[in-house]
Amino acid sequence: MQQLKINGGHRLVGEIRASGAKNATLPILAASLLTADDLVLHNVPDLADVRTMLKLLAGMGVKVQRAGTDVTLNASTVTSTIAPYDLVKTMRASVLTLCPLVARFGSADVSLPGGCAIGARPVDQHIRGLRQLGAKVEIDHGYVRATSSRLTGAHIVTDMVTVTGTENLVMAAVLADGCTVIENAAREPEVVDLCNCLSAMGARIQGAGTPVLYIEGVKQLHGAEHTVIADRIEAGSFFVASVVTQGDVLVTHCQPGHMEVVLDKLRRCGAQLDIGNDWVRVRMDGRPQPVSIRTVPHPGFPTDMQAQFMTLNCLATGTAHITETIFENRFMHVPELLRLGAHITIEGHTAIVEGVPELTGATIMATDLRASASLVIAALAAQGSSTVDRIYHLDRGYERMEDKLRQLGADIVRVDD
Ligand code: UD1
Repeated sequence: MQQLKINGGHRLVGEIRASGAKNATLPILAASLLTADDLVLHNVPDLADVRTMLKLLAGMGVKVQRAGTDVTLNASTVTSTIAPYDLVKTMRASVLTLCPLVARFGSADVSLPGGCAIGARPVDQHIRGLRQLGAKVEIDHGYVRATSSRLTGAHIVTDMVTVTGTENLVMAAVLADGCTVIENAAREPEVVDLCNCLSAMGARIQGAGTPVLYIEGVKQLHGAEHTVIADRIEAGSFFVASVVTQGDVLVTHCQPGHMEVVLDKLRRCGAQLDIGNDWVRVRMDGRPQPVSIRTVPHPGFPTDMQAQFMTLNCLATGTAHITETIFENRFMHVPELLRLGAHITIEGHTAIVEGVPELTGATIMATDLRASASLVIAALAAQGSSTVDRIYHLDRGYERMEDKLRQLGADIVRVDD
């Protein structure tokens, strides 16, 4: 297993480029199943989760060509409609193949993902919506088995805002017979990016980015070319790294309009922001002021930035409250941050973080993707050396994170355990 060795206490200074968004790429890759033509994608990040999705699609017979950040997919000959447990268990987003498979091929056998480190994360809304669209869906030996001749439009109201649930149901509705309305839809920029890609493929979707989606089903979709949006969570993680190291970091090729609430919190903690069309520069002098946050669906504060802001508050000049409302078990980074000298107590879904003047290096263990980022950021700010273990979590969602950090002057190396 690989680890990151970090000598902390260096200011991060310089410029890096944001990668394509993992959470937009994964549903868009799955959307390739909806057409027999080529889907040509640009700005696809090289991440473990992207490789897993490509492997899953290739196993179904989808032809995949990759050259750097360009990926071309062709699903003209799909030989299997099975998403096996081995792949699904390593990446829950594999469930995004469920609806495209049923919509175009009339059947899908997708393994249920099971639990995950941050919470139970059921997929009941995906299944309920697909049933409303007319599919026969049953759970059999750990698999969701869905069949349908042709899906029919329906009025769906999801019980909660679900990102991949909305994406899956949109991918079912685009090929359904008639109109579908999805209420309580997720408004995340990644959902909008998927809808834009589907529209380029000939889908008729209105309301992307609002809580109500209107989809008029079409008989078939055609090929398209699409550039994936920038990863707002990756960019946000680098902004926080700049703040806690009292640095000066410019992130280019990002979309500031997707990150307003995060940028506002950074401003409130005392960071100086310069914002252009597709870049953000974050400068910090001194310790941050505490900023309380409450995670909610977009456009509110993203749960995927909660752990990083926990680290920021660990070094703040006062006390902040961090309330997690999306996932029931997303404070796994807290015991690790305590090992670095942070002062945090947990009361139910709220962490009370009392800032300390400095953290000190230690060996810490990554537990999930965003927790890993928060620990790397904490180690960059900590005095002395740290080892971050189990970084395969980090590799799922951050492209060459240590290279980008080194580019900013961090003392960080990847080593084999
Ligand atoms: C996506 C993101 C993830 C992010 C999360 C919330 C991808 C690949 N992953 O995950 O990075 O942290 O959105 O912004 O895009 N729920 C149910 N039943 C369902 C579906 C969801 O109870 O059928 C619950 C979940 O357990 C959770 C909440 O709804 O408590 C929101 O989850 P959801 O938006 O679905 O998260 P994901 O799409 O899995």
